[in-house]
Amino acid sequence: MDENENRIVDTQAAGFEEDRQDFSLRPRKLAEYIGQKGVTENLKVFIDAAKLRGEPLDHVLFYGPPGLGKTTLASIIAAELGVDIRITSGPAIERAGDLAALLTNLNQGDVLFIDEIHRLNRAAEEILYSAMEDYEIDMIVGKGPSAKSYRIPLAGFTLIGATTRAGSLSAPLRDRFGVISKFDLYTQGELSQIIRRSAGLLEIAIDEASLAELSARSRGTPRVANRLLKRVRDFSQVQGSGAIDKEITDTALSSLGIDKKGLEGLDRDILRLMIEKFGGGPVGIDTIAASIGEERVTIEDVYEPYLIQAGFLHRTKQGRVASRDAWVWLGLEPPAEPQQAQLEIEFSE
Ligand code: ADE
Repeated sequence: MDENENRIVDTQAAGFEEDRQDFSLRPRKLAEYIGQKGVTENLKVFIDAAKLRGEPLDHVLFYGPPGLGKTTLASIIAAELGVDIRITSGPAIERAGDLAALLTNLNQGDVLFIDEIHRLNRAAEEILYSAMEDYEIDMIVGKGPSAKSYRIPLAGFTLIGATTRAGSLSAPLRDRFGVISKFDLYTQGELSQIIRRSAGLLEIAIDEASLAELSARSRGTPRVANRLLKRVRDFSQVQGSGAIDKEITDTALSSLGIDKKGLEGLDRDILRLMIEKFGGGPVGIDTIAASIGEERVTIEDVYEPYLIQAGFLHRTKQGRVASRDAWVWLGLEPPAEPQQAQLEIEFSE
């Protein structure tokens, strides 16, 4: 089987059934949302203040790796504000007219959520400027000398944009967000709470050792944690007792090709390439992407954040460097220490 077909680290949304289940695992209230405390504590103040004043919440931008709960938090914000949310994505908005239709259908205070907002096309992005700033849009109807420009007023709304990369948003768009929040990978303790909660909702018994193991191997990402939990549940129902214990967890995770540090095949391919072909680096990101056959953005947004958090990879000005731990983890003899240590300290961002 193509390894990609079974990949647990997935940039795409899950299939229909999984999506539906995932949806039922999502928290609905701020008080149920685990982790990202810096983000949620501030948002709570801004939500309360907006409600006190009876005004729409200021526009919010979320950025960070995929699978960390940006869409979930946007839905919670709308629920806490007591308003409706419309959910769309940058690539889904093909023409400026599509966005105008969405905007003109919003009611006072509603939330418009645009995922992957960095992929919005130029014409749609320009509509957003006046929509965000003045709650109005200018539409040109017709062509040539008979073309007419209409100013259409909008209800006061909140735009919540999400992106894996704040850096690829244009400055005029970025500047129109009043709140810009970064999502970080989750700690093992937070993931363990999330898995415990999900197991409760799915009515599966799980022991402490399995919780610890799953959270250590979920690469800091709730979406991965919930998927792994469901796969381990499959193994336990077919091959085990139906409850999740450490033995069935280990069996399931190794069958899925996920090692003890949460690395999967492609993570190890990246590190092995850096070490075996480039002596551990520094290697340019484009070289890594071309050699592995993945897009540069996928490596940067999906794989690298966890490899960096796990201490296996460093970003330096000259390129990416595999750490000593990466050599050791792959069972290879690392080069003499001082040289590499110096490079990391000198150039780590
Ligand atoms: N499920 C996915 N993300 C979550 C989070 N941050 N808190 C609780 N449950 C979640």
